[in-house]
Amino acid sequence: MIEYENLGKVNKKFREELLKTFETVLDSGWFILGKNVSEFEKTFSEFVGTKYCVGVGSGLDALILSVKALGFESGSEIIVPSNTYIATILAIIHCNLKPVLVEPDINTYNIDPNKIEEKISNSTKAILVVHLYGKSCEMDPLLEISKKYDLKIIEDCAQSHGAKYKDKVTGSFGDLSAFSFYPTKNLGALGDAGCITTNNENYYQLLKQLRNYGSDIKYQNELVGFNSRMDEIQAAFLQIKLKYLDDINSHKRELAKVYLDNVKSDFIKPLVSKDYHDIYHIFCVRHQRRNELKDYLLKNNIKTEIHYPIPPYKQNALKNYWGNEAFPISDEIHNTVLSLPCSYSNTKEEIYKVVEVINKF
Ligand SMILES: Cc1ncc(COP(=O)(O)O)c(C=O)c1O
Repeated sequence: MIEYENLGKVNKKFREELLKTFETVLDSGWFILGKNVSEFEKTFSEFVGTKYCVGVGSGLDALILSVKALGFESGSEIIVPSNTYIATILAIIHCNLKPVLVEPDINTYNIDPNKIEEKISNSTKAILVVHLYGKSCEMDPLLEISKKYDLKIIEDCAQSHGAKYKDKVTGSFGDLSAFSFYPTKNLGALGDAGCITTNNENYYQLLKQLRNYGSDIKYQNELVGFNSRMDEIQAAFLQIKLKYLDDINSHKRELAKVYLDNVKSDFIKPLVSKDYHDIYHIFCVRHQRRNELKDYLLKNNIKTEIHYPIPPYKQNALKNYWGNEAFPISDEIHNTVLSLPCSYSNTKEEIYKVVEVINKF
């Protein structure tokens, strides 16, 4: 069986270092917001190229706290791609704001900058861009629109650790940028974790309070805050895995190249943009008979995934938000997309085997 992903195998490569650091943290007796969190925040902000980083409990929390920190009045609108993972949209709703969906570009799967202006109203306050599947959005036109209409930019970098746009790492463009370190991510913890990067000192100070019950000084609460603190063990694990992120990203890029060079043109392959440094968090192809293809691959001992089978605007939880508004491009993506094995745990030989099988479909 060729697995889609095997996190046991992924982390086996770092096993000795992870065990050693686990012992150190265990013996230290300090488990939440300590030296390891501060060190990881410093290293990660250097990696992204921002002044600050704030470690939090998950990617969803990173998004919620980012939106909260911007302090928009209730009912304000935030523009967000219609084909994102539901978390991006939930963050807006949890802050009592209105998500306004904009369709993606069918070639990049990222928000289509040409479709944003028609959705801007007097209540629009920000654009929450998502670098889906590990490919950076086209940041130049997005930044131009944000300037023209005085909108904030929030980046959802949950799938884009280390992905670049014109030599700048994603997470360094926005007023605030949210990362997830969910275990399957290119930089994955061994549990839930996330962070926010920013160059703005005010947001940085605010976020440090928001994640910790609105408090800077013990038992003194300045804000109505949350409990979303990164823990020491995850920070220590992430510090180790960050050293290998370039290697993880290169491995996935090499596997992606095998697909890109060898999969037949019957399948729509991801676009490789010249100035973008894609990290292939997810490698997907599109095909009109996607479900049949998935079954066929499974019969041939190849596991695949769908990101995502149901778009957010069709989820029971969110159905009432957009009335009858149609999202045909997102529908097309959700109906045809199939994610192929492209993990740090997969070998090139396995990918050549997938290519051989898929080309006979
Ligand atoms: C695009 C996107 N945004 C946000 C999240 C939320 O991250 P987490 O699961 O760490 O809360 C995810 C996670 O899967 C994601 O893919």
